[in-house]
Amino acid sequence: MHIFNTKETLQQHLKSCLKKNESIGFVPTMGALHIGHISLVSQSFKENSYTVVSIFVNPTQFNNEEDLINYPRTLDIDVALLKAHFNSNIVVFAPSPENLYNRKIVSMNFNFGIIEHQMEGKYRPGHFNGVGTVLTHLFNAVKPTRAYFGEKDFQQLQIVKKLVDLKNFNIEIIGCEIFREINGLAYSSRNQRLSNTAKKTASIIFQTLKNCKEMFGTKNALEVTDYVTSIFKKKEAFTLEYFEIADTLNLETVTKINPKKKYRAFIAVFIEEVRLIDNIALN
Ligand code: PAF
Repeated sequence: MHIFNTKETLQQHLKSCLKKNESIGFVPTMGALHIGHISLVSQSFKENSYTVVSIFVNPTQFNNEEDLINYPRTLDIDVALLKAHFNSNIVVFAPSPENLYNRKIVSMNFNFGIIEHQMEGKYRPGHFNGVGTVLTHLFNAVKPTRAYFGEKDFQQLQIVKKLVDLKNFNIEIIGCEIFREINGLAYSSRNQRLSNTAKKTASIIFQTLKNCKEMFGTKNALEVTDYVTSIFKKKEAFTLEYFEIADTLNLETVTKINPKKKYRAFIAVFIEEVRLIDNIALN
């Protein structure tokens, strides 16, 4: 395992080991690694000659200062976890913000179109410009052949595909299935901040999404949305930020269902002041 803290040393290393026709798989993360990340790294490991995992808590994608301060930072544990699973051929890139951003820690402005104004875009202003900015710096540093993203952040995945188009990056973007705990809670670095009771209670999120999938064949979008609102009204531990049924292509909220289109349900809730998101394919 190799660990690099600057773009320059990372690039030197990759240049020295990369031969013609060899590929680089890239898994960008903000650390606090869990089994969901490990599954992304495994896929990259299988599909590429080298895998780079970045561990970088990106300041420009947090619209809430407290969320940035409280975000778990566990570099030593993350490195140990990667070592335990993969040992060789994994490269960890953990730069400082100054190094990655060339000392200018600010967001660029992107035009991601309709998708950036939905859900996460509405509730976290500036978030996707921050994600686009850090990924631009990371993609330029790593120059990967393929990059792997989890579908838990389904909207982010669509934004990344758009970024690759906008910036003409020659990178294949690969979306990977959501990894869940036994009780259905989607793995997230933020789960580390939940008490055991909250983790148990939070199984209601996926349970509700599964119920929505069942209802989707017979109820309309408004009825399904009302059902979810009523469930979370009864659960005092939760604050529902949004629930939306959206067209998978542009993520616009749907009121009237067209059977020829694909839809997903998206949810964001707070429990113990931790913000959790999840989604499910409905058809
Ligand atoms: O999904 C994440 O962990 C982050 O948004 C990402 C893609 C690593 C960018 O900071």
